[in-house]
Amino acid sequence: MANTILVGAQWGDEGKGKIIDVLTEQADVVVRYAGGNNAGHTVIVNGKKSVLHLIPSGILRKNKLCVIGNGVVCDPLGLVQEMEGLAKSGIKVTPKNFVLSETAHVVLPYHRELDAQREVIKGKNKIGTTKRGIGPAYGDKAARVGLRIADLVDSDRLKEKLAARIKENNAVLKSLGAKPLSFAKVFADYDKAGKFLKPFVANTVVLLHDAMNRGVEMLFEGAQGTFLDIDHGTYPFVTSSNTTAGGACTGSGVPPHRMDRVVGVMKAYTTRVGEGPLPTENQVISDLLHGMGREFGATTGRARRCGWFDSVATRHATMVNGIDDLAVTNLDGLDTVESIKVCIAYRHGKKRYDYVPNDAQVLAECEPVYAEFEGWCTPTDKCKTWKQLPAKARAYLKAIAELTGAKLFIASVGPGREQTIFV
Ligand code: IMP
Repeated sequence: MANTILVGAQWGDEGKGKIIDVLTEQADVVVRYAGGNNAGHTVIVNGKKSVLHLIPSGILRKNKLCVIGNGVVCDPLGLVQEMEGLAKSGIKVTPKNFVLSETAHVVLPYHRELDAQREVIKGKNKIGTTKRGIGPAYGDKAARVGLRIADLVDSDRLKEKLAARIKENNAVLKSLGAKPLSFAKVFADYDKAGKFLKPFVANTVVLLHDAMNRGVEMLFEGAQGTFLDIDHGTYPFVTSSNTTAGGACTGSGVPPHRMDRVVGVMKAYTTRVGEGPLPTENQVISDLLHGMGREFGATTGRARRCGWFDSVATRHATMVNGIDDLAVTNLDGLDTVESIKVCIAYRHGKKRYDYVPNDAQVLAECEPVYAEFEGWCTPTDKCKTWKQLPAKARAYLKAIAELTGAKLFIASVGPGREQTIFV
């Protein structure tokens, strides 16, 4: 498989967790490179559902090394909880199968508090964040006042740095009308988590290069999606990291020339959680999918906004990420739709766009230009091969891959490993 970067080609929740799990079969090392526990990767193995927020999905397979890279912001309490949850379901997380970068940044309670308070202040202009403290944690990283995992696992250093940060942040929280934090409580909780995590902490850059030199194959597990990227997304309605393929290099320390392939994951339609423009948003398809019990967030449980497939967006994602191969998920979500629309361009006044305009306001005002496809109106969730798919479903998949500008590689017709069609 060589070294593969897997990214979301839409607004997150493309079904990456499942595709990562399928591809992990061939990888030795799985690396998370951006984001934090705002992500929720759902994987279903033998009917059992696991939702992972920080630990790479490779943990569900035997003999895989899972790495949280330097580009991730890590909530240690959330991570310990996730490790304990996995242990309860029979998956042992040990320093042999899980390593955490000493330079990943730590998410602290004041980040979560600030995240929540800033959303309240923004009122109707809120971003709709997951309230996991992601933005403020990356903000501290950029402002060079963040704590890193190396600080967390050294009690004396943690005490000193945390005391200074809590003092400053309490003043800010008070000015926003929020309750100040108790240093003693935060220190006790985080010091405990640091002690628990210490055996897992390493210089992951050196570790990954050593692994590469031994010829192992690596999968770089993207979180969120292209249009939530801090640089390339619908700013300010984005997350705070580089979720696109370039982030895999900066977030892991593996250089661009060691990356061999980029896989883009996209749904057969479009969804988004939180605020911000979504040109193809459509109430009928939203109601249909929610009525089927689909499209509720894995991290916050929020109902996702749904719309038709937007090939302007996915083509843009191919450009920004350099997507070679496509995995299309949730094809079965369209099984009952008689006439399926695909957005092929945007219209904004007299201007026609075949790329995504940078200005979120302009994008919000764009009207989609649609092509229509006949639906297959047959269940696809039991199909195991390309040939078993209805001809109209194959035509639809071929068309959206062609419009996206990359090779169709996987069609997924359900959450299970066995519901995966290699094209
Ligand atoms: P934050 O990452 O919590 O700051 O949230 C910023 C935006 O990204 C919000 O619109 C979130 O709903 C969205 N977001 C963050 N993580 C995910 C994810 O894993 N899937 C989908 N949307 C996400």
